[in-house]
Amino acid sequence: MRRFGAMPVVDDVSLSIAAGQVTCLLGPSGCGKSTTLRMIAGVEMPDRGLVRIDGQVVCGDGAQIPPEQRSVGLMFQDFALFPHLCVADNVGFGLVHLPAAERARRVAALLERVNLPGFARKYPHELSGGEQQRVALARALAPEPRVMLMDEPFSGLDNRLRDGIRDATLDLLKETGTAVLLVTHEPDEAMRMADEIALMRDGRIVQRGAPYNIYNAPVDKAAAAFFSDINVIRGVSRGALTETPFGAFLTPGHTDGAAVEIVIRPQHLKIDFDRNGRGPNPTAQDGTAARGTVARSRFLGRESLVEFRMEFDGSTLTAAVPGVFLPNPGTVLWLMIRRDRCFVFPART
Ligand SMILES: Nc1ncnc2c1ncn2[C@@H]1O[C@H](COP(=O)(O)OP(=O)(O)OP(=O)(O)O)[C@@H](O)[C@H]1O
Ligand SMILES: [Mg+2]
Repeated sequence: MRRFGAMPVVDDVSLSIAAGQVTCLLGPSGCGKSTTLRMIAGVEMPDRGLVRIDGQVVCGDGAQIPPEQRSVGLMFQDFALFPHLCVADNVGFGLVHLPAAERARRVAALLERVNLPGFARKYPHELSGGEQQRVALARALAPEPRVMLMDEPFSGLDNRLRDGIRDATLDLLKETGTAVLLVTHEPDEAMRMADEIALMRDGRIVQRGAPYNIYNAPVDKAAAAFFSDINVIRGVSRGALTETPFGAFLTPGHTDGAAVEIVIRPQHLKIDFDRNGRGPNPTAQDGTAARGTVARSRFLGRESLVEFRMEFDGSTLTAAVPGVFLPNPGTVLWLMIRRDRCFVFPART
């Protein structure tokens, strides 16, 4: 637990990370991710709580092991290379205990791995931001830490470069069996990198699980909305059923008369092309179709986003269609909802 002033910014967080696994601490800006990471690293003191690495208490219970003795590799948002040292010396900084030949061999191997062969004698000011980042990564990996703490380490890189470096970094960390805690506010990055995601909000971890589970079984509306746009259909649960213009939805566990929100991601809103506007053709899985008028169509590359103004209440629903589908505004189409892809939450009052 860590307070700044009266406000706890990290509260009751319990997190364990496994060797050879990547755990992503994911959450919006200011939720306390960096503070959590800094406490594990030992550069920030918790007001209360324990940090254990490999079973050893490194902080709390009277213990206070300094950062450099925790076998922790760090890569922070504001990583800094030593400006007066060349790339090779930056990378070899944590290897001074090794014989020179051995050290040079390891530095060369690491530079190869981060795709910077031939950069050994350059100085940081001669490198692009992305190249500096990769040197910082090589430097953090050089002492083979048991735990690697990374705080948005790929944030400065352009998209194409970033994917390559992310994957190379992952391979390297898996190979060495390092336990990785990676902080990010980007769901895509977490989905791509993580074996496990810990979703953080307001200083607490609200959900943990494999990317698939976090995405497909969010704990609440905000958790669902963190990963994609969402559509919300409101209703009232009666006898464990909620009637909507899209048919009845099973809403077990909600008391009679409870307001519920049925949440559906845009890719699970189906346009009933077969019927071509000729009317609903209900099926067990898809329920009833409802009419909407196209308000806007946009092409995003992999998919098209179509916004509908719904006839039943004038609300807006967004459907994502793979590839190109750009109906003109004003076109009337029938929409259906994949019931097996809905999440039902109690409505916030
Ligand atoms: N040294 C400090 N003194 C006072 N408040 C701080 C301090 N460090 C962080 N905070 C506050 O604690 C909260 C959590 O900060 P933290 O840096 O952990 O967020 P974060 O989740 O890493 O956000 P981001 O994604 O923007 O990096 C923020 O509201 C921040 O303003
Ligand atoms: Mg941060």
